[in-house]
Order: sequence, then C-alpha cells, then structure tokens
Amino acid sequence: MACNRQPQPQWATPSPITSQTSTKICPIMQLTFGSFPVVVASSAEMAKQFLKTHDHVFASRPQTATGKYTTYNYLNITWALYGPYWHQGQLRAFFSRLLALSGKPVLLKEHLSRITLSIISRIMLGKKYFSESKFETAVVTLEEVKEMLDELFLLNGLLNIGDWIPWLGFMDLQGYVKRMKALKKKFDRFHDHVFAELKAKMKGLMEDFVPKDMVDLLLQLAEDPNLEVKFNYDSDRGFTRDLIAGCTDTSATTVEWAMSEVMKQPHLIEKATEELDRVIGRQRWAEEKDIPELPYIDAIMKETMRKHPVAVLLAPHLAQEDCNVSGYDIRKGTRVFINIWSIGRDASFWDEPEAFHPERFLQGKVNMDVKGQSFELLPFGSGRRMCPGYSLGLKMIRSSLDNMLHGFHWKLPEDHEG
Ligand code: HEM
Repeated sequence: MACNRQPQPQWATPSPITSQTSTKICPIMQLTFGSFPVVVASSAEMAKQFLKTHDHVFASRPQTATGKYTTYNYLNITWALYGPYWHQGQLRAFFSRLLALSGKPVLLKEHLSRITLSIISRIMLGKKYFSESKFETAVVTLEEVKEMLDELFLLNGLLNIGDWIPWLGFMDLQGYVKRMKALKKKFDRFHDHVFAELKAKMKGLMEDFVPKDMVDLLLQLAEDPNLEVKFNYDSDRGFTRDLIAGCTDTSATTVEWAMSEVMKQPHLIEKATEELDRVIGRQRWAEEKDIPELPYIDAIMKETMRKHPVAVLLAPHLAQEDCNVSGYDIRKGTRVFINIWSIGRDASFWDEPEAFHPERFLQGKVNMDVKGQSFELLPFGSGRRMCPGYSLGLKMIRSSLDNMLHGFHWKLPEDHEG
C-alpha cells in the first residue's frame, strides 16, 4: 500500500474485483503490478474524484504495446459528422434478414455485429468496403474484418508482460507483440486500399471535392498545411480504426445483453411492446424520432448498461503528475482503473443490484443518465476521456433494440438452460 492515509483493514485483502458486490469492495485500492503502481477506484465518489475533480491529471493513457503496434495516435472527434447513413437502409436489411429466419433459432450476436459493422463502415468510409457474400467483390470479406476486430479486442484486453515489466518486453514472452505486428499489417492493407481509392476521387474532383463522410474529411485534413495540430495518413488510419473498433462490439454486445435479460422475464417484453404499440402502432418500424417517446425501452437500455457494462474497468487512465485524491497520495505514472462493474452493483445505492429491474429508472432514479453526469452509472466513462462515440452508440443500440422488440416475438430456445 502506498497511500499516505491509514488503510482500512479491508485494504489488506482486496477481493476479486469483479466477482463480489461493491459492498465488499473498498472504494479505492492500490496495488503494485509489475513495475507500476495501479489504483482501482470502485465507488461513485472515487470515480467522480478521478474523472471530474482531478480529470486533468488523469486524462492520459498508459503507453502499451498494443497501442504502439495496433493503433496510431487517437484524435478526438465531434459528432457533427455522422450522416443519415446509419439507419434506414442498413437496418432494414438487418430486419429483413431476421424476418427470413422467423421461427428458427438465431444467434443474435452474429447478426448484431454485422449490422453495426456495416453501419459504422458507411459512416466512416462512405461505403461498406467488405463483402458479405460470394457475389460481392471487395478488398476483404466481412469474416476477415470481424476476425481482425476480434483479434484487436483480444490484444487490447490481454495482459502483455512487457507492458508491466518493461525490461522483459524485448523477449515478447507470450508472442503477443508478434501478433500485434501481424494485425497491424492486415489493417494497413485494408486502410491503404480505402485511402488510395478515396485519394484518387479527391484528386479527380480537385477543388470541387466536398467531404461527405469521416474519411473524406480526414483526408482533407491530412492535406491541409495550415493546421496547428498536424494530421497525416497514419493519424487518419489510427482514427478510422479506433472508431470502427470502438463502435462495433460495444453496441452489439449491449443489445445482446438487453435481449437476453428481457427474454428471461417475458413480462418486460410485454411492457415494452405495449409502449411501442401505443406510441408507434403496428404499421411502421420505430424511427429515431420515436426514441424520446419510449421511456420504458430507455429504462431497459440503462438497466442493461448498469448490469452489463461493456468496459468493466473503463480504459486505463494515467496520472500525469503527483496528485492527492480524497486524502490519498497518487504518484505520477500510476495507472488508474475505474471499476464501473462494481459501482453499478453497489448495494448502498442500487436496490437488489443483481436483479434486472428497468423500473428503477422510472421510479426514483428517473433523472439518471448514461452520459457521464451520474457517477453511479458510467458505461461511457466521464470527463475528458469519456467515450466520444456515446451519442452514436446510444442511437445504434436504440434503433436495433426498439425494432427488435417492435417487429418480432422473442423467446428463448426450448433447450435453453438458466
Ligand atoms: C454502446 C456503445 C459504447 C460503449 C458502451 C462505449 C464505451 C466506452 C468506454 C467505457 C470508453 C473509455 C472511457 C474512459 O476511459 O473513461 C470508451 C472510449 C472510446 N470510445 Fe466508446 N463506447 C461505445 C461506442 C462507441 C462508438 C460508437 C465509438 C465511435 C464511433 C466509440 C469510440 C470510442 C473511442 C475512440 C474511445 C477512446 C476515447 C479516449 O481514449 O479518449 N465508442 N468507450
């Protein structure tokens, strides 16, 4: 323990971070992991301290091998860019595919990943750039992109010994760095193809070129000599990769969890469909404009994000200078993990935290949002490093979830256990 305050007895025996409710977990805990101090914050108040009060100190990320080899420098974005692509056509195709499978068991995750990948790729790149069937020709297949993203997630999430004990890094004991380099090559091939095509288009149109999507704009920025912060093609590649990867599994996983929870309690589906029938009727699909009129489904989404946050420990934050947080000294270089899994299960704040009760957001916790203002519920983090894609993520979740509940009857397969 390196904190200057007298540790409470519970500090000496940290419980497994994610397998206990937060009543048994200390709000802040310091460990030494490899060569680095690590702090885990597991209460809403501590999350607020790190992500709001001292946000400027902890807004950095540690340098890791996966950051070095599989992504480039992350550049922040605003949400002015996403166009109309993200819903209609793509979602219709998705629902038609589901309709065609009516009556048969479906593995939802597969369909959800495919739809999010298609949508985000159109938003970022202007078109799909990968083929979904043997009749389409593209530089890569959907399967290959999914494999690349799965590998990226895996390599981002696993523990690479060289990141924590840097002097052992050169040995690449687990072989992960080798895999990162191989993955980078695959991504580079894909991006090079996309950028070559877009650059040719840009050159052809000369001054008539008007950016229509994210990559058009990024390419234009890379050509701009007057920018204060220089863009280049590496930042373009890193940027698009971050966004495609950041979006795909997160939204799909949240919808999958939501469907899994409501199918276990069919009366929740009844309530949701009652709301959908009342607000939308049976003649059309749900649209973006309906979202504010569907509070029950909003509550289902929030409850899903509380109970099943996609990023259990948020992404690591790095102390850029020595800092005192609520009386605890945190040294420069400390890696900070915010344990939102535990915060979402804190029994002193949430009644029956292990239960799935969307109603809690309609009675009592009515004003809680998921956009970084309520520190008890932080699926997107908060502060300077909060997820920049939250708005798009929420819309992707709602467009799929609303229509999946509106257009289909759902039940678990007969042989389902648990
Ligand atoms: C349900 C959907 C999503 C969830 C739950 C989610 C969650 C998160 C979380 C927890 C973080 C880390 C915040 C922190 O460290 O404090 C994050 C970061 C990030 N997300 Fe998301 N995200 C989602 C959708 C998206 C989308 C749609 C995009 C892009 C189109 C995106 C792009 C990013 C990027 C680029 C970062 C890194 C931000 C930084 O380091 O400053 N995310 N996201």
